[in-house]
Amino acid sequence: MAIVTSGFEARPLSSEAGALTDDTILALLSGKGPDEALFAEADRIRREVYGDAVYLRGLIEFTNYCRNDCYYCGIRKGNRNLSRYRLDKETILGCCREGYALGYRTFVLQGGEDPYFADDPDGSAVSDGDRRLCDIVASIHDEFPDCAITLSVGERSRESYERLHAAGARRYLLRHEAASCDLYRTMHPAEMSIENRKRCLYDLKDIGYQVGAGLMVGAPGQTLHHLLDDLHFMEDLKPDMIGIGPYLRHADTPFGRSSAACAQGLDKEEKLQLTLRLLAVLRIMFPYALIPSTTALGTIDPKGRELGLKAGANVVMPNLSPAEVREQYELYDNKICTGEESAQCRSCLEMRVMSAGYRIVTDVGDVKRPAECSSGMKG
Ligand code: 5AD
Ligand code: FES
Repeated sequence: MAIVTSGFEARPLSSEAGALTDDTILALLSGKGPDEALFAEADRIRREVYGDAVYLRGLIEFTNYCRNDCYYCGIRKGNRNLSRYRLDKETILGCCREGYALGYRTFVLQGGEDPYFADDPDGSAVSDGDRRLCDIVASIHDEFPDCAITLSVGERSRESYERLHAAGARRYLLRHEAASCDLYRTMHPAEMSIENRKRCLYDLKDIGYQVGAGLMVGAPGQTLHHLLDDLHFMEDLKPDMIGIGPYLRHADTPFGRSSAACAQGLDKEEKLQLTLRLLAVLRIMFPYALIPSTTALGTIDPKGRELGLKAGANVVMPNLSPAEVREQYELYDNKICTGEESAQCRSCLEMRVMSAGYRIVTDVGDVKRPAECSSGMKG
């Protein structure tokens, strides 16, 4: 068993040893324990629950329209230097067919909060947007009944989430971004709130979705204490999936333009290391979670995704979007995989997963839970 000894009190890092204390988490995140021991313990726990399996999720970025103006994000409404696109249902189904042939059994439909798909503000009426999105979900569900459909389309009413669930969606990714009210405020315009985001996450869970939360590491103004708030929030939410990646600058955003925001952030190497440490802490705290080694991690370092897998991640999300639109889904500068075809992303990731010492599995890859918490997980 790995024991962290340097810099702070010796402490076994195993899940049976009980919850990590705040002090231990802060010490681990600040690099006071040897990172190798931390990563090895995360890997041990991950292998105990999931073996060497790495799950594939085919990512379809189907719209880059967004009504929101988050200060960090390249597809924010206020970015006029971006040409906007929206894939129609046939094109999306085409991506799924290609993905199915490549072995994918989960499709992740991700997009900005596109007004074309918007729900009714108070949720009671079925909006045109609801109908359009439900129709896409139902068509994928019809044609690929053995596949899981994951949605990542932002904040909606509970009723709209219920309709999408009834249409066949079973998983939902909605990064909470920052559990701390104060930090959330500095990253988003006034009309967005962490309260509504949390409401969405608890609604989704209550409806029966497998739910994913998450955040960006090294966002301007973020401290280790903020990350601790995020961990406490997730302890309460108990997400099935947790998505984290380094914050990366996008030049056409308020954060990207602000020298203060740039100066506040960590440098590349620090962000990479902190992301890896947080991945390991997440694996130790949430042994059952599905945790992707993200594109942002692969963007900050050419070996970032391999390192992420070795630090506890067990999911990869190759891009299935049509090659022509990939560059337009630019959340941050220099995003990788924009020039590739779907088959290239698939084989590139297969090679990376193998070289890190793991094995791609192509089943649906539902979350594994201890028996006592598994009720209501599937639907
Ligand atoms: N750097 C890294 N990640 C980003 N995201 C948005 N903008 C950036 C950025 N500049 C992340 C957010 C969002 C997810 C889809 O992408 O966390 O939830
Ligand atoms: Fe897309 Fe490597 S995963 S090119």
